[in-house]
Amino acid sequence: MTDPVAAGLDPLGRWRRFAGDAVLLDGFHALKHAVRFGARVPVAVAVDRRAALALAEELAPDVRDTLDGLLTEVPEATYASLVPRPHPTAVAALAVRPTRAANLERLGRVPRAAPVVVLDHPRNLGNAGAVIRLAAGFGATGVVTTGTLDPWHPTVLRGGAGLHFATAVERVAVDELPAGPVFALDPEGDDLRGVKLPDDALLAFGSERSGLSVELRARADHLLALPMRPQVSSYNLATSVAMTLYHWSAYGSAPPGAPPVP
Ligand SMILES: C[S@@+](CC[C@H](N)C(=O)[O-])C[C@H]1O[C@@H](n2cnc3c(N)ncnc32)[C@H](O)[C@@H]1O
Repeated sequence: MTDPVAAGLDPLGRWRRFAGDAVLLDGFHALKHAVRFGARVPVAVAVDRRAALALAEELAPDVRDTLDGLLTEVPEATYASLVPRPHPTAVAALAVRPTRAANLERLGRVPRAAPVVVLDHPRNLGNAGAVIRLAAGFGATGVVTTGTLDPWHPTVLRGGAGLHFATAVERVAVDELPAGPVFALDPEGDDLRGVKLPDDALLAFGSERSGLSVELRARADHLLALPMRPQVSSYNLATSVAMTLYHWSAYGSAPPGAPPVP
């Protein structure tokens, strides 16, 4: 705790002090991931602290001691007053969101060791969360969104299971996209299976409703299609990202620890 005022407050007071600027980590797994990937967590509460630490011992021994130092037990009614709907683990925390400047610096760093995922005008908050989780799992450099959806919206955070802190997540305009060749995914493109995706690629995906925008198409260097039989119109956005990141990991450069491609 680096904030001397907050250090003197009870958990509820600390929650109120940070709630305006911080993001909600809803449930044990979100807290576990955020801590594991270096998020600053000024306040964390549990209805049953012992049960939460037992869960940590079982599922996340690497962060057990950190959680021991962070978690304060609160009555169920206090916990319920802090979250939109109770999580089965009855754990919640606030985490400090990385600054836009820090995210843009991370996204713009070259040479880039793993692609950036671009969601062009996404609409569905659950899809955005699932994509952030995928990007974290594959070690992507980041996820950027164009349009009005806030990729740090509480519902996206819930879908992302705290993994916003494992990758760089930011909203940008098309003309602010990081440098790098844009491989845009569209059913009318060339077959992805014939292409090796470079590590510095921007992998762009269109909106659930209307596909790729005119601006994104104009910025695209390549249009690529996922294999799909003729009478199917399209795949779900998050599953399209999953297939494309898998293709990159298997046939482009793989993240550390991945088995070599024969
Ligand atoms: C649900 S789809 C969009 C469907 C939309 N009605 C359209 O007109 O394109 C969301 C995004 O997933 C990606 N996608 C879905 N199916 C794809 C496929 N077979 N090949 C390449 N990209 C695909 C594209 O980026 C697409 O814009």
